[in-house]
Amino acid sequence: MQRANHQHLILPVLILFVFSLFINTEKAMSQHANETLNVIHNRSSIRHFSEQAVPSEMVETLLRAAMAAPSSRNVQPWLFYVVEDREVLIRLSEELPSARMLAHAPLAIVVCGDIQKGDPNEEQVHNWVMDCSAATQNLLLAAESLGLGTVWTGVHPYADRIATVRNALRLPAHIIPLNVIPVGYPAAHAQPKEKWDPEKVKHIRAEK
Ligand SMILES: Cc1cc2nc3c(=O)[nH]c(=O)nc-3n(C[C@H](O)[C@H](O)[C@H](O)COP(=O)(O)O)c2cc1C
Repeated sequence: MQRANHQHLILPVLILFVFSLFINTEKAMSQHANETLNVIHNRSSIRHFSEQAVPSEMVETLLRAAMAAPSSRNVQPWLFYVVEDREVLIRLSEELPSARMLAHAPLAIVVCGDIQKGDPNEEQVHNWVMDCSAATQNLLLAAESLGLGTVWTGVHPYADRIATVRNALRLPAHIIPLNVIPVGYPAAHAQPKEKWDPEKVKHIRAEK
């Protein structure tokens, strides 16, 4: 019996194999982009936490993400206080106007700016707020990606809230608290708000 010759199939099969490798790489890349966007769009403020403790490695992951933020002139004027002392958390929850959830969060991270960092130029010094806000958003997104819940509770620019946090944490005068972020596992699923509004986008295009 004569054996079938399949040599003519080798080239098409090889092409198909290389093509499928290319398609898979493309898919993996777009999947990666979607994961990032999913984290951004799934984040929602969480104000109720379960009693489950947050592992310290996760806290470090959050802080590493925060410190990866952009920073004007790369001054990195941030400082992060990780508060796990229940008495301090309860005190903050009672003395800050909209942060009652702190009493039941496993921990909180207080994002602060050091106004002694960088150029003591009157305008440049204000960049600590932008730098620390960028760091805060990184932290919130990193938490979402790890299945943790957070909410930005505002401190700066309110003098009374700054004084409350300063006293509770014994902060020196050059360290200004921007916010207090409770961190924990969400007690329930939260639906992210739909915020897309094309009316808020204005295009500047060259006239034809
Ligand atoms: C500067 C700033 C201050 C905020 N302060 C508080 C606060 O004191 N207490 C609070 O519960 N939420 C606070 N939030 C969270 C907002 O209420 C929340 O982001 C907003 O309602 C949109 O909801 P979302 O985060 O779920 O998208 C603050 C957010 C920002 C950016």
